[in-house]
Amino acid sequence: MKKYNNGEFRLKDIDQTYTVYGWVNKRRDMGGVIFVDLRDRSGFLQVVFNREFLKDDFALAESLRNEFCIKVTGKLIKRTPDMINPKIPTGEIELMVENLEILGEADPVPFNIYEDKVLNENIALKYRYLDLRRESLQKNIIMRSKIASAVRNYLNNNYFLEIETPILCKSTPEGARDYIVPSRINPGSFYALPQSPQIFKQLLMLSGFERYFQIAKCFRDEDLRSDRQPEFTQIDMEMSFANDEDIMTLTEDMLHYVVKEIKGLDLPKFPRITWQEAMDKYGSDKPDTRFEMYLEDLTDILKDTNMNVFRTSIENGGIAKCLIVKNNGNKYSRSDIEHMIDFVKIYGAKGMAWLKYDDDKFNGVIAKNLEDEKLKTMQERFGITNNDLVLIIVDKPSITYASLGALRLKIGNELNLIAKDKLNFLWVTDFPMFEYSETEKRYKAMHHPFTMPKNIDKITTDPANVLSDAYDIVLNGYELGGGSVRIHNPKTQKIVFDALGLTEEDIKNKFGFFIEAFKYGAPPHAGLAIGLERFTMLMAGTDNIKDVIAFPKTQSASDLMSEAPSLVSEDQLQELGIKLDLKKDE
Ligand code: AMO
Repeated sequence: MKKYNNGEFRLKDIDQTYTVYGWVNKRRDMGGVIFVDLRDRSGFLQVVFNREFLKDDFALAESLRNEFCIKVTGKLIKRTPDMINPKIPTGEIELMVENLEILGEADPVPFNIYEDKVLNENIALKYRYLDLRRESLQKNIIMRSKIASAVRNYLNNNYFLEIETPILCKSTPEGARDYIVPSRINPGSFYALPQSPQIFKQLLMLSGFERYFQIAKCFRDEDLRSDRQPEFTQIDMEMSFANDEDIMTLTEDMLHYVVKEIKGLDLPKFPRITWQEAMDKYGSDKPDTRFEMYLEDLTDILKDTNMNVFRTSIENGGIAKCLIVKNNGNKYSRSDIEHMIDFVKIYGAKGMAWLKYDDDKFNGVIAKNLEDEKLKTMQERFGITNNDLVLIIVDKPSITYASLGALRLKIGNELNLIAKDKLNFLWVTDFPMFEYSETEKRYKAMHHPFTMPKNIDKITTDPANVLSDAYDIVLNGYELGGGSVRIHNPKTQKIVFDALGLTEEDIKNKFGFFIEAFKYGAPPHAGLAIGLERFTMLMAGTDNIKDVIAFPKTQSASDLMSEAPSLVSEDQLQELGIKLDLKKDE
């Protein structure tokens, strides 16, 4: 068995003989002497093949190529002063090899695994087992394991039980499309892979386990982004006899513990803001608080302007918000601003007005049209000074928030305003209970339908203003996790189902068994789930979720290495009673 970690040898270990294993990372043939950086999970050790000391045929050493897997035995010695490399932890020592055994020869690898950047992601993913040899990916996967272990440690010490829940189950109402699996034994019936263990963890509370957690696999067939994968992992928790405050305090304490364990950092207490404040200030329910530049409100200024576009939009329920790019107006030309306008259109904005302030006055098209007194109010209220750029959107609240929120991030990145080394956690609370679906013409649960409403009295008269007892934990502008206090009283649950327009039939079909369970002494309970990949990604300082998953899927949800998904045989389909009816071009 391998006894030593190559990267952990130090000067104190010299003058002894060791057997070490690993891969040839780099090899320098100096004629008569060959130096190899021998890599294992822990790092590198320089091993030296010198004709004088090598007992095997030197030709064997000469045959070594990159990525050969080898075993060597030799004496650890101090390097001569001119050979010392202070940049690496094992830079003062080297192993003088006496015996070499080649364990696995290697063909030339199809891409450069010694550089941090990958030129062709598709090739790297096809050979993911080689890609995973890269130092940065090794570090990330190791960090992920350590995070999971710290989480387990913390929760085990806090009376939580780790309980597994099914993977083959009935669809849960999380809102994304399900992955479905046909049942051979029940032809025509399908399982759904869980979008989260939500229903099961609540049932475990009803069963009396009091505190549950699971590092749970979840599956969602949704459009992929740089922070989304079709299968991902949640640190999933649920607690009985607990309220929102209890869950937030415990989660915060756990995250403090994990960050301290992994990074040695002491985090401050996490700030909290309400959903409405987050939208008003950042245009996002997952604000990146690593830089300022807030959305400012000018609805009251523009509501009675002579400029029709603004006034009528506000009369029709729109809001006016702006971003003030302080002291950087000269960085943005007219054509840059035109590009910004195209950018906000992606988020539904019909347009964007802008003003520059230079030589103690406003410039730009609307400076001529907007009343002087309004310009003056803006200048005073927002403290606008020379070289400021003002970007204004007047639209429906959802569009104004989304477009300025996204523009804020874009400008923050462009102007390097974001303190990239920070870990800024934030709680967002008091979410709206429902969001209106324009396509379905009905209210849908913003979190999920088992979330406790805060002001249930408004549910029939003013559903848009019902708040839920839900909370999200945000890190550096990403939604890291979310949870809520659950409804444990069947009467309240019925009121919420009614508000969602679910019929008795729907309720029975979708979650009859679940509703039934609440008739038998349901404890109050609450919970939360954190995306393990997103957490690891931000701890590792990458913005690509694939970097923290050993075998990730591509944008089109396929695994380029094993070539999943794939066709199955006609026999398999027949056995399942499935006939394919694909259109010709598919
Ligand atoms: P929610 O749907 O908010 O809540 O998910 C919780 C967290 O899971 C992560 N996440 C994802 N990570 C990667 N790829 C995805 N496709 C993906 N989707 C979600 C995010 C997210 O914040 N059952 C509830 C939790 C609860 O109420 O206790 C739930 O699943 O980090």
